[in-house]
Amino acid sequence: MYQSRREEFMRRIGSGSVGIFRSAPEAERRKYRQDSNFYYLTGFDEPDSACLIAPNHPEHKFVLFVRPKNWQTEQSSGLRIGVEGAIECYGADVAYPIEEFAERAPTYLDSAERIYYCFGSDPHYDEKILSLVKKYAGLIRLQFGVGPNSIVDAREILHEMRAIKSGVELKLLRRAAEISAEAHIAAMKAMRPGIYEYEIEAVIEYIFRKNGALMPAYGTIVGSGANGTILHYRTNETLIEDGVLVLIDAGAEYHYYSGDITRTIPANGKFSKEQQEVYEVVLASEMAAIETVKPGATFIEPLRRAREVMTGGLVRLGILEGEISQLIAERKYGKYMSDAFPHWLGMDNHDAGKYRLKDGTYPVLEPNIVKTVEPGLYLTADMTEIPEKYRNIGVRIEDDIVVTAGGYENLTAEVPKTVAEVEKMMKKKLIFTFP
Ligand code: GLY
Ligand code: MN
Ligand code: MN
Repeated sequence: MYQSRREEFMRRIGSGSVGIFRSAPEAERRKYRQDSNFYYLTGFDEPDSACLIAPNHPEHKFVLFVRPKNWQTEQSSGLRIGVEGAIECYGADVAYPIEEFAERAPTYLDSAERIYYCFGSDPHYDEKILSLVKKYAGLIRLQFGVGPNSIVDAREILHEMRAIKSGVELKLLRRAAEISAEAHIAAMKAMRPGIYEYEIEAVIEYIFRKNGALMPAYGTIVGSGANGTILHYRTNETLIEDGVLVLIDAGAEYHYYSGDITRTIPANGKFSKEQQEVYEVVLASEMAAIETVKPGATFIEPLRRAREVMTGGLVRLGILEGEISQLIAERKYGKYMSDAFPHWLGMDNHDAGKYRLKDGTYPVLEPNIVKTVEPGLYLTADMTEIPEKYRNIGVRIEDDIVVTAGGYENLTAEVPKTVAEVEKMMKKKLIFTFP
């Protein structure tokens, strides 16, 4: 699988180019997570490594630079695959200790005109690549006429490749969605007034890990009451009070693929009249948006539809007043829907792929593209122009949608979503079983 991806990458960059990718830097107090582009091409999950993809080298088209084996360091900080293991287990044509990168790279770069590289995510590495190119620019190209004279952003090509998911990728995304769904259902069963947001977060992340999803795809959001109106609330420290709504945005990462689900549920298991009124508007908007997903529609089409339905709903709630088409044209929904944007879904939660094309149009959906649909209404305390009963209510509903040949498939449809379904599920109690 990784080899066929590298072959496709080589075909796209052409023989005058070399691709260089580096591993993600290590972060303190966080489990290590490989860089998605690097992993996509290599399947290699160790830090402090790099790879070189050299289509015009006669033998070494795939070169890995890795941490060499050393029993003392391994005994202190964990096992490494080592140089030989990189060849045996990861199919490298040749492998070297990472310390030899600068010294070995010219072997592959001398005959290249271009370097494909992802600038901007690791300043330390950017510096290394620049100094390689500087050496060529300063002397070598002048004296010997060899070496690269440009650096091209490798994301363009890789993101095109990553945008359309393969069968294996879809399986992993499906599993990430299933695990995320199970976690949301557990949260519904565990929810009650008087517990802390972080306790619900713990339930969710326990279900992730129990299923082999070792980390969340992004910081889990459990926002009760007014916290639900904060788009990227991450604190999760508030005591959940009786009578509030709780917005839960949580997704598992399963073998590098992301789930991403939001549900908004009543703390005590029953929506109040006002909460239900707002909720139904968001729900109608989300469901209508999903219905627009099909090959040939654009990326923005579901969001457009969500905005239309939401505007009608805002008028019915008495939050907006006027002619619906006029309100849409004037983007009056914007203040209440905020700018939470749907996104591609894959190895990264906000996945690779263009969101806008050069001519200002939006990418067209094709089969095996995966995206989220996630409209919300965020009615804050300081919106004094709206009826008081609706203030401090935040509702978002989010599902993961695969574009299929005939339309779409909702990977997260198992999580209760209508008022009746949510209330019914919340009547059940969470029982953990430990084998
Ligand atoms: N959970 C992040 C997002 O929905 O975009
Ligand atoms: Mn999302
Ligand atoms: Mn989300």
